[in-house]
Amino acid sequence: MSRVVYVNGLYKRYDQALVHAEDRGFQFADAVYEVIEVNGGCLVDATRHLDRLERSLGEIGMLPPMSRASLLTVIGNVVRRNGVYDGLVYLQVSRGAGPRDFAFPSNGRPTVVVIARRQSRSAFLAKAAKGISIVTMPDIRWRRCDIKTVMLLPACLAKNAAAAKGAGEAWFVDEKGLVTEGASSNAWIVTEDGALVTRHLDERILGGITRATLKDVAAAEGLTIVERPFTPSEARRAREAFITSATNTVMPVVAIDGDPVGAGKPGHIAEKLRLSFHHGAEFLDA
Ligand code: PDD
Repeated sequence: MSRVVYVNGLYKRYDQALVHAEDRGFQFADAVYEVIEVNGGCLVDATRHLDRLERSLGEIGMLPPMSRASLLTVIGNVVRRNGVYDGLVYLQVSRGAGPRDFAFPSNGRPTVVVIARRQSRSAFLAKAAKGISIVTMPDIRWRRCDIKTVMLLPACLAKNAAAAKGAGEAWFVDEKGLVTEGASSNAWIVTEDGALVTRHLDERILGGITRATLKDVAAAEGLTIVERPFTPSEARRAREAFITSATNTVMPVVAIDGDPVGAGKPGHIAEKLRLSFHHGAEFLDA
């Protein structure tokens, strides 16, 4: 099956899909995006993701490019046309094309791109069974990380630096020495007494949808959740650590900056939460 991408009203084969050379997403990173998990042919937490998309658009002064029902129809079409049963949907909305000018165009039309990709469940389970390593690095990003923009160069640099050290994710550390979040995930630790700790939400981090759903799941299981920052050294000494994102759901962290976390293997609480996560999530037929 040839892959199909949605670009501005058209479903195109990859080699035929085009975005304008002066698209503001390309020129200025003037665009926002969402990543939604596809699980068993269903969209996971689509309502929360589309709520966040609308918020991100609002924060950069844009209106939704189409109704939510239309967007869900497009997403469903892309998922089905690509035969994605387990995988991801990427949805990007830019302010559209226009002569390269910092001023926002007054009559611009947004560019909408929807891509769906398969993700092997067995490869994911094998990764989760081993857990990942983390390296920490300075948070060099801007001060509005709560907006999910495509301005992802700092994340790319961090993830490549992490990969060069054999790590699966980077955790950013702010000027006070506190972990903000992962390059493309939220960061969590489990304290000695079994409480879950993740940084509180503000403009320095993205309010992860997986984070929000996991909070509900953990609360339903009677776990204590504390929203506060932690340092890399507290994380290294924690009982467990893990990350959350639409691409990883709950992924155990087994080492930070070369030091093992806990027993140096995936922890029981992370494992339990990974298994129960989808029971607390919203499923919508794609
Ligand atoms: N990234 N923090 C950052 C900086 C992220 O980029 C992401 C997600 C998250 C977790 O958010 P959520 O749980 O809604 O996926 C936190 C996506 C998966 C990506 O860019 O691929």
